[in-house]
Amino acid sequence: MATANNPRKILVTSALPYANGSIHLGHLVEYIQTDIWVRFHKMQGHDVHYVCADDTHGTPIMLRAEKEGITPETLIANVHKEHSADFSEFLVQFDNYYSTNAPENKELSQSIYKKLKAAGKISTKTIEQFYDPVKNMFLPDRFIKGECPKCHAKDQYGDSCEVCGATYNPTELINAYSAVSGAAPVRKETEHYFFKLSECEQFLKDWTRSGTLQGEAANKMGEWFENGLNDWDISRDAPYFGFEIPDAPGKYFYVWLDAPIGYMASFKKLCADKGLNFDEYWAKDSQTELYHFIGKDILYFHALFWPATLEFSEHRKPTQIFAHGFLTVNGEKMSKSRGTFITARSYLDHIKNPEYLRYYYAAKLNSTMEDIDLNLEDFVARVNSDLVGKYINIASRTAGFINKRFDGQLNPSANNAVVAEIKASATAIAEGYAEREYGKALREIMRLADVANGFVAEKAPWVMAKQEGQDAALQETCSDALEMFRLLTLYLKPVLPKLAGEIELFLNIAPLSWGAVASSLSPQHRINAYEHLITRVEGKQIEAMTEANKENLQATPTPVPHSQQRHAEHQQAANAEATEAEYISIDDFTKVDLRIAKIVNAEHVEGAEKLLKLSLDIGEDKPRQVFAGIKSAYDPASLVGRLTVMVANLAPRKMKFGMSEGMVLAASDERGGPYILSPDSGAQAGMRVK
Ligand code: MSP
Ligand code: ZN
Repeated sequence: MATANNPRKILVTSALPYANGSIHLGHLVEYIQTDIWVRFHKMQGHDVHYVCADDTHGTPIMLRAEKEGITPETLIANVHKEHSADFSEFLVQFDNYYSTNAPENKELSQSIYKKLKAAGKISTKTIEQFYDPVKNMFLPDRFIKGECPKCHAKDQYGDSCEVCGATYNPTELINAYSAVSGAAPVRKETEHYFFKLSECEQFLKDWTRSGTLQGEAANKMGEWFENGLNDWDISRDAPYFGFEIPDAPGKYFYVWLDAPIGYMASFKKLCADKGLNFDEYWAKDSQTELYHFIGKDILYFHALFWPATLEFSEHRKPTQIFAHGFLTVNGEKMSKSRGTFITARSYLDHIKNPEYLRYYYAAKLNSTMEDIDLNLEDFVARVNSDLVGKYINIASRTAGFINKRFDGQLNPSANNAVVAEIKASATAIAEGYAEREYGKALREIMRLADVANGFVAEKAPWVMAKQEGQDAALQETCSDALEMFRLLTLYLKPVLPKLAGEIELFLNIAPLSWGAVASSLSPQHRINAYEHLITRVEGKQIEAMTEANKENLQATPTPVPHSQQRHAEHQQAANAEATEAEYISIDDFTKVDLRIAKIVNAEHVEGAEKLLKLSLDIGEDKPRQVFAGIKSAYDPASLVGRLTVMVANLAPRKMKFGMSEGMVLAASDERGGPYILSPDSGAQAGMRVK
């Protein structure tokens, strides 16, 4: 343990959020978890630096900017502003919040790459990839869609089916198309650069055993070693928003190569601003500590690629990697339709107080990779009962007497058993914070708050206040209660820094550090007037928030990035969030030519399991031929003469059984179907649907 004269030098990071979406309550688990840890260690007097940045590179960001008609630089500048405001309002206090699209990051990425190359760890290989012949770009798997080869669900991603859960290669998709242009992708050869991860196995095995990872994470590593390590594809072809690879024109670093280097870059900028020594923290022989807080979904990058990159570019490795689980809301994945996909901003708009969420998360967090649940009803109950009912209650029941009867003057007893008990828990609570067992720490703090409330209830200062000759006892009781309150405030300060700041003003004391456990409010001390510190959270605020998030889904016409693109370009992405709807504009909608069609003929197709062949009259010279996957639900004869709705301007598609010149609309899900749509009576073949 370092002493105050010899503080530990600690660099802490949280994962860099993608610059193509808003911060939501899931992200905040991580930033709040890290911030509490950092604030605790700062209170201990250590030299702690907390850096982060927006993760700005890659195909999804490039395409989103294009869609919005702005440059990627403008997009990421806007998002940087938004993210910075969200974090600061949630009291997440970075020492530097930077961007991966920064000169320091470019320089570091290129120099690290050159070192890896000099160490013989880079190879090249010609690979075949899908290519969009209209957009003239290579397509990441997630930008290829088509029909699932297993269950034939339409519009599935190139790597897995959201309907049946099958995983496959994009080559296996039926009628694959580019999600960017809609064109059928072609196969095209291109040279890629690889980091030879397969050669790093021994190093990584040794490193895994060095105590850097949690037990569950080390087990995961074991599985990965068993499956064998593949070389890591670190290049992408132009057009790509990122950094060019030195001596490889038209080739860019894959976003995940320069993203973790963004930790270094953000710190480098901090060094320039604050006069810190960069090498002291990153050189191979560094004696400082380095901790990365991450979600379990990005363990692969941080426990394999990142240490190997650092090792073979001659840098220090992380002291520890702290992975946390995923957030669920009311026991389920965050969901737009249930209104539980809640952005940081929407929480602030409705609930206002960020410290409620900080408290709730802290109460739920431990050091494992288990998921944590935000139960909204429990949130209301917990915040009101712990913070308002237990903690603040101690001051609100005693401070008024000191202010009114004793002009703010304290006179605590020399030896109060409850104060002593509260002080005695300092070490256990500190351990809880240091070990990321915040739930444990808060349970102990709330136990102590119960004891303090018991003391106040037993002494009943409101009774003393009405009795003659009880002034001294009243003053002492209330002073002791405020000393208890001071200690609990100190313990809660990493979680509730703003409230603690207000209480420091009210108690008229210097900012509380952990060392202040040992001191006490002196008999000469005067406090300031007590003002209302906290308001109860109401169930109806929660309802309004979830309602508003449901409404957002229908009302806002802004494009929302598909959250499935979080790790769009990497197959290791696990735990991708619930699917979000992508909005289209009215212009997009009017591009679809919907017509009333009369089914003039319907017949079975020889050899087709699912299809019926329909002839559809839409008022043109001759009927359209359409193959529709409705055989399971309809006898062809029953369809003849019926009206339905068809997409008339869908590009004709050559199928095994002939050309299909459009599509008939039908409803289906796990409850049944397909059910073809019919217009109300009066509609005529050929009418436009809009
Ligand atoms: N850009 C990468 C990280 C690069 S780090 C060099 C990324 N970005 S992210 O925006 O998708 O996620 C940022 C962090 O938030 C990750 O650690 C991720 O695990 C975490 N979370 C995102 N959604 C989450 C939940 N629903 N629950 C808990 N944490 C979540 O990954
Ligand atoms: Zn499927």
